Amino acid sequence: MQGYLTGEVGEAEMSAFLMAVFIRGMNRDETYHLTMAMARSGEMLDLSQIEGIKVDKHSTGGVGDKVTLVFAPLVASAGLVVSKLSGRALGHTGGTVDKLEAIPGFRVSLSREEFISQLKKVGVAVSSQTEELAPADKVIYSLRNRIACVESIPLIVSSIMSKKIAGGADVIVIDVKSGKGAFMSGERARELAEELVAVGEMAGKRVSAEITPMDQPLGYAIGRVLEVKEAINLLKGEGPADLEDVCLSLAGLAFWKAGICETKEEGRRKAKKLLECGKALEKFAQWMEAQGANPRIVDDFSLLPSAECQPLISKKEGILKDIDCKKLGEVSHILDVHPAGGIVLRKKLGDRVEKGEEIAMVYGEKEKLAQALENIESVFFVE
Ligand code: URA
Repeated sequence: MQGYLTGEVGEAEMSAFLMAVFIRGMNRDETYHLTMAMARSGEMLDLSQIEGIKVDKHSTGGVGDKVTLVFAPLVASAGLVVSKLSGRALGHTGGTVDKLEAIPGFRVSLSREEFISQLKKVGVAVSSQTEELAPADKVIYSLRNRIACVESIPLIVSSIMSKKIAGGADVIVIDVKSGKGAFMSGERARELAEELVAVGEMAGKRVSAEITPMDQPLGYAIGRVLEVKEAINLLKGEGPADLEDVCLSLAGLAFWKAGICETKEEGRRKAKKLLECGKALEKFAQWMEAQGANPRIVDDFSLLPSAECQPLISKKEGILKDIDCKKLGEVSHILDVHPAGGIVLRKKLGDRVEKGEEIAMVYGEKEKLAQALENIESVFFVE
């Protein structure tokens, strides 16, 4: 890894190595050593000067996945410290940093000193991943993309866990998405979850993973500001049930692994209480203020950017049988030039749709709306 970063090992050699791993796999020990080499390729964050148990979270990515926006303040409202260095959008799924950056004033690039000081003061900080964090992952990921070696469990595990281990938290909670909208399903998703946990534990971390469904977007909103609003609504107790379910499960895992609850079920009940009593929302407002945004956004959405909108009307009646998540993510990307661009679903899988009824509302710049509406029709399969 060091040799590849310095140029001593060439791209041809590294490609041959990655392709060999892609085809033949690696055992757990090998995956662990590759992970550690990647983690140590840059800065290893030392959070030991911060009191309390430090928690980090990762999602393998899904359309409409705004879980971090809820998880971070929810877990911090229990007195744990949520420390997250987050990436930007990967493929058709949005990145947390992009979503936070759409909030006026919110600063995503905190210096190390600012990051640490905010963790001490507020108990939650999310900052963009710097070049110094696991730099080997960045170049290896780009190479894997070019040589079609992304979908390999040992390579995914080393990529994800190297960043998490370098991030310095004690507890790591991983949301492994499974389903048509995820990049792995069924047995493969389970195997990925097991390996992530095992390798993290070998590195001395307390790790837990949950496999959550991604056959359709999580919640109703897809798009930066639209997702921020949906997350705030959930913190107010008015969020979609599927999103709430994932947030409570992951927070429950964090409480259990941090040792403040005996079981993950007890953790989940604790998370529900923190959501209901308003403490998680209060922590969200403190977090916003600490990173430069106006905390009043929780009560006043007019402080957030807004865009024009147009509905997608169904030409058929029937049941919504399928949603093409990948395509939906791509259409949302067309609208993403505006911070408030995106899509809000009116229907989810299994819902009845009448002819002439709205299936979704499309938000964005006027000239992008027509293009998006044209592309989005084939996303929804009604029969
Ligand atoms: N996410 C990552 O960070 N790395 C992978 O290899 C796949 C998903």
